[in-house]
Amino acid sequence: MAPNVKSAKKVFVFLGKSVFSLLETMIFTLIPKPRKNVAGEIVLITGAGSGLGRLLALKFARLGAVLVLWDINKEGNEETCNMARDAGATRAYAYTCDCSRKEEVYRVADQVKKEVGDISILINNAGIVTGKRFLDCPDELMEKAFDVNFKAHLWTYKAFLPAMIANAHGHLVCISSSAGLFGINGLADYCASKFSAYGFAESIFFELFAQKIKGIKTTIVCPFFINTGMFEGCTTGCPSLLPILEPEYVVRKIVDAILQEKVYLYIPKFIYVLMFLKSVLPTKLLLLIGEYVGAFNFMDGFVGKKKN
Ligand SMILES: NC(=O)c1ccc[n+]([C@@H]2O[C@H](COP(=O)([O-])OP(=O)(O)OC[C@H]3O[C@@H](n4cnc5c(N)ncnc54)[C@H](O)[C@@H]3O)[C@@H](O)[C@H]2O)c1
Repeated sequence: MAPNVKSAKKVFVFLGKSVFSLLETMIFTLIPKPRKNVAGEIVLITGAGSGLGRLLALKFARLGAVLVLWDINKEGNEETCNMARDAGATRAYAYTCDCSRKEEVYRVADQVKKEVGDISILINNAGIVTGKRFLDCPDELMEKAFDVNFKAHLWTYKAFLPAMIANAHGHLVCISSSAGLFGINGLADYCASKFSAYGFAESIFFELFAQKIKGIKTTIVCPFFINTGMFEGCTTGCPSLLPILEPEYVVRKIVDAILQEKVYLYIPKFIYVLMFLKSVLPTKLLLLIGEYVGAFNFMDGFVGKKKN
């Protein structure tokens, strides 16, 4: 085929596919996409001992999923497991696992594969925050933030993705943060770990696409502050556009996004606008917007989660 015919064909195919996917998106904006059935799916939730992880477990329990719950906090995790059984889960298993330790992740993952089976929905949710300015933050705390918020995702993917590929069936869910999209002063290590988690999940999504591996979905979640206690004391300068979110609302949106197989979920919607503005506006204007929404003071009152 002559090179100009070949490139005309390439443009034609690209335009055809683009129009089709735009139409598909428009249709699914008007008529919500059908939700997938997760009854019987084996769902692993890390950080299930409290907050979003616990609420996600209860939602998936009501949807008939088999639950595998991981947390470093044994008591909180077992409590979630009992609550999930009360909510209707016929099979729920609690495993104590420190996700920041690679060997422990691999050991517990092997145990899960033997005792429960292959994970089909992996929700990397465990997270910690130090909440200190960069120069005040001890090295070991920064390393810990990376180990839990990002590196644990590498080890859980290594442990569970091969079976998903072999079964041509799976869903990888990354709970990142709006702090994985925008840098925030007083939150440098957390932001860097959440940017990493986002970049990793998106890269694997593209890697699976490029390798034409079918049947494995990805969902990346970036919420603003949520009222779970993790960011206790933090404030927003613009509650109408950037409200502190309620955990039940966030979990409803996350589960909807998983069931509808959405790749990106930013909450609230204003985060999408901010992402667009960040790409097009001059930096001085961005700083003004940052001041307007109180971004440079978000962390001023941070106290975080009180230890039990
Ligand atoms: N709360 C917010 O404002 C907010 C905003 C955006 C994103 N997020 C993210 O959402 C996720 C859930 O946060 P949350 O608000 O429910 O907080 P949370 O503190 O209630 O829950 C985090 C859970 O992770 C567990 N965990 C911590 N270190 C662990 C480790 N080494 N191994 C295993 N488990 C460990 C904790 O025990 C806890 O149960 C986190 O990844 C967080 O970064 C939270």
